[in-house]
Amino acid sequence: MSKITAAITAVGGYVPEDILTNKDLETMVDTTDEWIKTRTGIEERHILRAPGSGTSDLGVGAVEDLLRKRGISAEEIDLLICCTVTPDMAFPATANIICDKVGAKNAWGFDLGAACSGFLYGLTTATKFIETGTHKKVLVVGADKMSSIVDYTDRTTCVIFGDGAGAVLLEPTEEEVGILDSKMYSDGSGRVYLHQKAGGSLRPASHETVDAKEHYIFQDGRPVFKAAVTNMADVSAEIMERNNLSSDDVAYLVPHQANLRIIDATARRMGVSDEKVMINIQKYGNTTSGTIPLCLNDWEKKLKKGDNIVLAAFGGGFTWGAVYVKWAYNS
Ligand code: ACO
Repeated sequence: MSKITAAITAVGGYVPEDILTNKDLETMVDTTDEWIKTRTGIEERHILRAPGSGTSDLGVGAVEDLLRKRGISAEEIDLLICCTVTPDMAFPATANIICDKVGAKNAWGFDLGAACSGFLYGLTTATKFIETGTHKKVLVVGADKMSSIVDYTDRTTCVIFGDGAGAVLLEPTEEEVGILDSKMYSDGSGRVYLHQKAGGSLRPASHETVDAKEHYIFQDGRPVFKAAVTNMADVSAEIMERNNLSSDDVAYLVPHQANLRIIDATARRMGVSDEKVMINIQKYGNTTSGTIPLCLNDWEKKLKKGDNIVLAAFGGGFTWGAVYVKWAYNS
């Protein structure tokens, strides 16, 4: 029997309508459009402002876009993994809420948290359910409402993040396309540099934690930047080496969109030229779990069956990794 591989057979994306520009941020904190653009590459980001809306609503937007394009009903989905660090609530899982809202009545699901590497962790996990032959249609959703945990008086973090979601569908194939390799890493000692201090079991919410602003993202940018540059570049080079891929073989690098300088360092290490690097950070900012599937969605029409694509991410945890995908369809 030939080997079953998990192929990406559809993608979808969603960002909310409201836009927060660098100029808007200039009126909120001591920053400039120039500083944000040169240090990060970001020009604007989308923010989910509708009252009563959460991460599940972003995920629903991405899933509905995907189902429409693929021409299938939600009832055909077997499993939905929602990668997020901003779930609607601690429990039930946002995956369960998305399934309910889109009508994926036959699916089970769970949330997966690995910060900015969440989508690649989720994709790697989902692949196993397809490869074992037990599941036929698995959705991996990367969705984050980062505005819900951003302190808009902290100029070091509020300029970076945006809200958005992307989704991919995995289906089995016997062709030599799909998710061909994956290498994930984590190092929990990095938690001191990037975390949300309160709201979990260690420091449950209290007046004290709210007053101390411990429910917002804390980031010590420089050590995170240093670790991101090294590790994202190293793991991308590693995935190329172990699959005998030269820079000419790679059609696209799809990097997590945290900072243009981190993306450039990764591309240089891989030896791939600028036109092969997917970059949309200027319009979305860092949407955490959403960045990579949002790139795939934006570039979908340019992708061709057989294209070699390297996905790479680094994020809180620390977590990082790279995935080698051979694109499975022409759109
Ligand atoms: N506007 C103007 N000045 C600012 C701003 C701002 N928005 N933010 C910081 N500064 C100042 C700092 O206070 C500092 O001033 P000082 O020199 O007087 O102390 C100066 O700019 C330089 O600050 P740095 O922190 O050294 O700036 P840097 O060039 O490192 O850029 C950034 C900061 C963008 C946060 C960068 O460190 C970075 O991208 N880090 C990694 C982010 C990342 O990859 N995170 C992982 C994913 S996120 C996740 O997993 C949830």
